[in-house]
Amino acid sequence: MPSINPAPVQIDFSKYFSQETTGRKRSQLKELRPYFEIPGMISFGVGIPHPSTWPVNGMTLSVPFAGKSVFVPGHGSRSPNDMLPLAPYSDPVKGDHLFPDLAGELQYSATYGTPHLLGWIKEHIERVHAPPYSDWVNLCTAGNTDGTDAVMRACFDRGDYMLVEEFAYPGLLSPAATFGIKCIGVPLDAEGLNPDALDDILANWDEQEKGGPRPKALVVVPTCSNPAGVTIPVQRKREIYSVCRKWEVLIVEDDPYCFLQIRPNGADSPIVPTFLSLDTDGRVIRIDSFSKIVAPGSRLGWITGHKTIVEKIMNTRESATQCPSGFSIAAVTAVLRAWGSHEGFEKKYIPHISDIYSKRCLQMLDLLKQHVPAQTIELPQPSGGMFLWVRLKIENHPSFPAEDPEEISKRVFQSMIGEKILMAPSEFFKAPSVNTWSTEEEARRIYVRISFSLPPADEMEEGCRRMGRALAREWKC
Ligand SMILES: Cc1ncc(COP(=O)(O)O)c(C=O)c1O
Repeated sequence: MPSINPAPVQIDFSKYFSQETTGRKRSQLKELRPYFEIPGMISFGVGIPHPSTWPVNGMTLSVPFAGKSVFVPGHGSRSPNDMLPLAPYSDPVKGDHLFPDLAGELQYSATYGTPHLLGWIKEHIERVHAPPYSDWVNLCTAGNTDGTDAVMRACFDRGDYMLVEEFAYPGLLSPAATFGIKCIGVPLDAEGLNPDALDDILANWDEQEKGGPRPKALVVVPTCSNPAGVTIPVQRKREIYSVCRKWEVLIVEDDPYCFLQIRPNGADSPIVPTFLSLDTDGRVIRIDSFSKIVAPGSRLGWITGHKTIVEKIMNTRESATQCPSGFSIAAVTAVLRAWGSHEGFEKKYIPHISDIYSKRCLQMLDLLKQHVPAQTIELPQPSGGMFLWVRLKIENHPSFPAEDPEEISKRVFQSMIGEKILMAPSEFFKAPSVNTWSTEEEARRIYVRISFSLPPADEMEEGCRRMGRALAREWKC
C-alpha cells in the first residue's frame, strides 16, 4: 500500500457534477438576498408566513435514554413555564382519523403517508372539494415544492413544453428550466389566466416550428396567486377546464394559498370552488401544503389526483424521500386533533388565519393609496394571500418611450433600494411568451410584487412612504 503524501492535492470538482447540476437555474428571488443585509432595509420582498400564525409555540419531548423531558422553545415562548397545561389524553374513538402515536409515526411508513393522516386528508378533500369522480387518491409530500418537483419528474421529459401563467412562481420556473422543460406563459387579466389566450396558444401550436408536441399540462396557482395575487373565479375555471379538456391538457393546481383568500364573513363566506371540485375527468393534479396554514417548517403537504397518475408520482418519491417525516405528521395531526378535526379546522382555525392576512392585505393597500402618487402606480383588486401585484405606470414615466420599459423598471428598483425599500420586480417572474409585445404593451407589463405577510405595522407604513418618495422622484411628480 503506497503511503499518502500529506501535501493536499487540488481537486477540480466541476468534473464530478451532473449536467443537471451544471445547468441548474436558481430562483431569481435569491438575488434579493444581498439587499436584506443592508442596515435599515425594509423588505416587502419575501412572501413568507408570519411566525405569530404558527399554531405551536413550544414542545416537550420525553427522552428515555436521557432520563428526562426536554423543552423546545418557539415563537413567543422561551421557557417550559410558558407551556400551556397538558390536556388529559384520550385514545381516539372508532372512526376518528387523527391518532398521532410516535410508536407508529417514527417507523418507515408507506410512501403515500400514514393511514390516519391519509384518512383525514381524504375526508378533508371530500368535505372541501368533493371531486366529481371516484378514482382519486392522495399522496403525502414534503410540501408543494416537493409536489411540483414530483409531478415534473413523473410527467415531463427534457424538451417537453409546459404551460404556466405569464407571470409565474420562480420556484416553478427554475426547476422546470433545470429539467429542460420549456415553459410557455399564458397571458393573465384581472381574473387570472385567460382561457381564450390559452385556447389560441393550443390551437395555433405548430409542432414543426416549436420542435415538439403541444404542452401536456398547465400549472396554475388559482388562489391569491404568486406573484399576481389573483383568485380565478369559478366561471373562469370552468372555461379553462373546458379548453384543457379540448386539447387534452392536464391541470396542475398548485394551491398553497387556498385558505388565505379574503372571506368577508369568515367561515360563512365559502371558498372559491377549486379546479379539483370541477374535475369530472381526473385531469387535475391538486397540490396542497400545510406551509401557509400550519408552518413552512412542517414540510408536509399532499397531492390529490387520479390513482393512475398519483401512483407514478408516488414512485418518484419512493426513491427520494421514501416516506413523509413521522415527527412532522405526529405534530401536525396532534394540532389538527387539538383544534377539533375538520369542524375546528374549517370553521375556526382557517378563518382566523385568513383574517390575519386579509387585514394585512387591506392595510397595505390603504397605505399605498395614502403614500404613493396615483400617477405612478395602478393598484390591484385584492383577493388575499401574501402579495399585492402593483403595476408601475411606465407609460407616465418621463423617460418613456425614449427608454426601454425594462431599463426604466431597473432604475426604479435601484431608486427604491436607495430609499431602503425592497420589493420583487416583475422580471423575476416573467415566463417565456409566444406573444410579441409592442413597447407600449411592454410598458404595461411592469409590476412589483409587494409582500405584506411579514413586516410590522410601522414598517408597512414607513416602507410605503419610502416607495412614494422613490417613485415621486423618478416620475418627477
Ligand atoms: C405558488 C407557490 N407554490 C409553492 C410554494 C412552496 O410551498 P411549500 O412550502 O409547500 O413547498 C410557494 C411558496 O412558498 C408558492 O408561492
